[in-house]
Amino acid sequence: MEMIGIASILSRGDSSPPSLAPLYNSAREARYNISKALHANSPTLTIGRPFANICSLPINLTAPPCRSSTTPAAVFDPYVYLADRGVMASVMVVAAVLWLCAAGEVQAQAQLQVGFYAQSCPQAEVIVRDEVGRAVSANVGLAAGLVRLHFHDCFVQGCDASVLLDSTANSTAEKDAGPNKSLRGFEVIDAAKERLESACAATVSCADILAFAARDSVVLTGGSPYAVPAGRRDGNVSAASDAQANLPPPTADVAQLTQAFANKGLSQEDMVTLSGAHTIGLTHCSSFSARLQGYNASTGTGQDPAMDAATASRLAKQCAPGSADAAVPMDAGSPDAFDTGYFHALLANQGVLASDQTLTSDNATAALVAQNAYNTYLFVTRFGDAMVKMGGIQVLTGADGQIRTDCRVVN
Ligand code: HEM
Repeated sequence: MEMIGIASILSRGDSSPPSLAPLYNSAREARYNISKALHANSPTLTIGRPFANICSLPINLTAPPCRSSTTPAAVFDPYVYLADRGVMASVMVVAAVLWLCAAGEVQAQAQLQVGFYAQSCPQAEVIVRDEVGRAVSANVGLAAGLVRLHFHDCFVQGCDASVLLDSTANSTAEKDAGPNKSLRGFEVIDAAKERLESACAATVSCADILAFAARDSVVLTGGSPYAVPAGRRDGNVSAASDAQANLPPPTADVAQLTQAFANKGLSQEDMVTLSGAHTIGLTHCSSFSARLQGYNASTGTGQDPAMDAATASRLAKQCAPGSADAAVPMDAGSPDAFDTGYFHALLANQGVLASDQTLTSDNATAALVAQNAYNTYLFVTRFGDAMVKMGGIQVLTGADGQIRTDCRVVN
């Protein structure tokens, strides 16, 4: 499978002036929202996030349906379409309001910002990237570990580095919960934190290090760079029971996954796209062996019918009795490359986890799987956007929380 990007490309966050980047992102999001509303044939478009001002008023576009229901989303240009229909003036008004609102959003959301450390610790992202690069070149599997760490952090108590806290005498921390037992990459975060404390003490949060490290891991394995808004602060609470309650299990079906992501403000599109992270990394046999139970090598029957027979046969051998600790790639064709291989595997019924293969069992999610499989640009763009969205879940900002000096313990 072809690699998506060039590992050494600098992220947009490194090259854009910090003051302009958030504006760029908000405007891009606003433009995307227009396109989305038009595609949904929605007559109204709500601009801005929870603003108690004009930016949250619905604007009536009275847009007719798209030119053709088969027009691919990636090439349809709502501006051209609307100009064709002679409503350019309305678009200009909408665009002007959007730009004003985008600027307003930057102020209202000044908490998370691309280039947040530009003044306080200019080398922050470089240090993280350096440590991640070092670790990943020694063990490429750590890239997958770091992407997963950020996901498991954000889904439990928000992106507050609660996943990094060690258990204490009084409480069992998230990292010791069942679904987190196989997390890896903690020492990479520790190494980055240690250097950051020397360079700019008590400034860069562990939660932001996780977000930067996840992005750098994507890029180092061949994915596309995306700017990471920062300014998260670290939480003080970490409970194993919260991890159990919030992380979807590998047996979840589409409805359960959709609910788990909706609970975090993420859409089905985000869910399918973020699942694409399984294009790198491993899963232990214990996470999917139920799909192989009863498998009879001589008859080739007994496995989950949603799994392609040859894949079931191969996995049954790799997970022979007594090898519950064995781990296998989730994208067997290119386990270390951040590409579209995972989605192609799903289309061939070669998904390893039930929670992966279930994505082709529903019309809406199956369509998203196919879009991501066959349009690399669409996938990588969606992935960066969805990671930024995930990275904003219930963040602590401003004076909330703290900047831990050691990511494993509360100050
Ligand atoms: C959709 C719901 C999801 C479920 C049910 C799920 C479940 C799992 C499971 C069971 C494993 C293997 C654990 C093991 O056996 O060791 C795994 C690995 C992994 N997950 Fe997910 N996951 C989901 C979504 C995500 C998301 C949203 C991301 C990141 C954006 C992600 C990133 C990863 C990565 C990179 C690995 C490989 C980790 C490694 O090799 O160390 N997963 N996931």
